[in-house]
Amino acid sequence: MSSKKIIAVVGATGAQGGGLVRAILSDANSEFAVRAITRDVNSDKAKALAALGVEVVAADVDSQDSLTEALKGAYGAFFVTFFWDHFSPDKEKQHARNMANAAKAAGVQHVIWSSLEDTRKWIPLSDDRMPTLQGNYKVPHFDAKGEANAYFAEAGVPTTILNTSFYWENFIYFGAGPARGEDGTLALTMAMANKKLPGIAVKDIGKTAYNIFKDPSYIGKTVSIAGEHLTGEEMAKGLSTALGENVVYNAVPASVFRSFGFPGADDMGNMYQFKAEFNDDYVGARNLDVVRALNPELQSFAEWLEENKTKIPV
Ligand SMILES: NC(=O)c1ccc[n+]([C@@H]2O[C@H](COP(=O)([O-])OP(=O)(O)OC[C@H]3O[C@@H](n4cnc5c(N)ncnc54)[C@H](OP(=O)(O)O)[C@@H]3O)[C@@H](O)[C@H]2O)c1
Repeated sequence: MSSKKIIAVVGATGAQGGGLVRAILSDANSEFAVRAITRDVNSDKAKALAALGVEVVAADVDSQDSLTEALKGAYGAFFVTFFWDHFSPDKEKQHARNMANAAKAAGVQHVIWSSLEDTRKWIPLSDDRMPTLQGNYKVPHFDAKGEANAYFAEAGVPTTILNTSFYWENFIYFGAGPARGEDGTLALTMAMANKKLPGIAVKDIGKTAYNIFKDPSYIGKTVSIAGEHLTGEEMAKGLSTALGENVVYNAVPASVFRSFGFPGADDMGNMYQFKAEFNDDYVGARNLDVVRALNPELQSFAEWLEENKTKIPV
């Protein structure tokens, strides 16, 4: 049996967790071994991980007991929730609660909780500059994660809070990339006015998390990460160069973004408004020098584009 310390990874077949799995596997001398948590050990993605030699176990974040079982014997655990699968901040909080309690029950020594800011600390529900959503939130997919930070402390679990940022992969998979207007021009539509949007290559979330696991002095701390802070104009320019076709930045007011009508448009409109109006705080928290010290391979947007430009659907 391997003497390596086990890192159990929720979302191992997905973006953030998958990045962490690859970061650990790519280090042949790692002190850690990966345990991938999935709902279905027989899925193609789970089988692909098993084929790489990864231990694959079944659990569902809906079930605290299944998580406790899956975490037994693990030194560390990476936890992420899946807001866009259900759009429910209350469900997201319950899943975080289940993970915190399961980690405590299993005696996990270092948890990394993938979180985001609770925007209600900046914009209380009484502030009508943006609508309150789902009764109790301003940016549901941020606020629930930020509120859930306390659950890990309450459970008494040694935790590092990892505040992530906008994945540039959203330009490939999330429908957030440049879209062709009626005149045929590609436009990148965001409600960031002329403010900078912190963004990151999703694999850098995993690489940074890996390096945090190597250093227990991060327990009890919050680490906020990004790969680069760019305005819409700067991102459009980068996309134009990478795609070999002009991309314009279509800056829309947050109220217009909220009215787009696709599921979650109101949440994303509020998110952009928060990031734009509290730009100094949101960008300032994500110090690129600190992130690069933790993860020297951190990609810039140009580097990410060079690697991924052919996958961007236009
Ligand atoms: N897109 C962005 O820019 C961005 C930025 C910051 C934060 N986030 C946050 O990132 C989170 C999503 O993370 P991601 O992008 O890594 O997710 P993802 O790529 O959609 O991965 C989801 C994986 O999680 C697993 N999963 C889903 N429901 C589960 C459940 N009930 N129990 C156990 N596992 C489950 C699935 O694995 P199996 O099918 O194998 O079970 C799936 O492969 C969201 O909460 C979002 O708000 C996103």
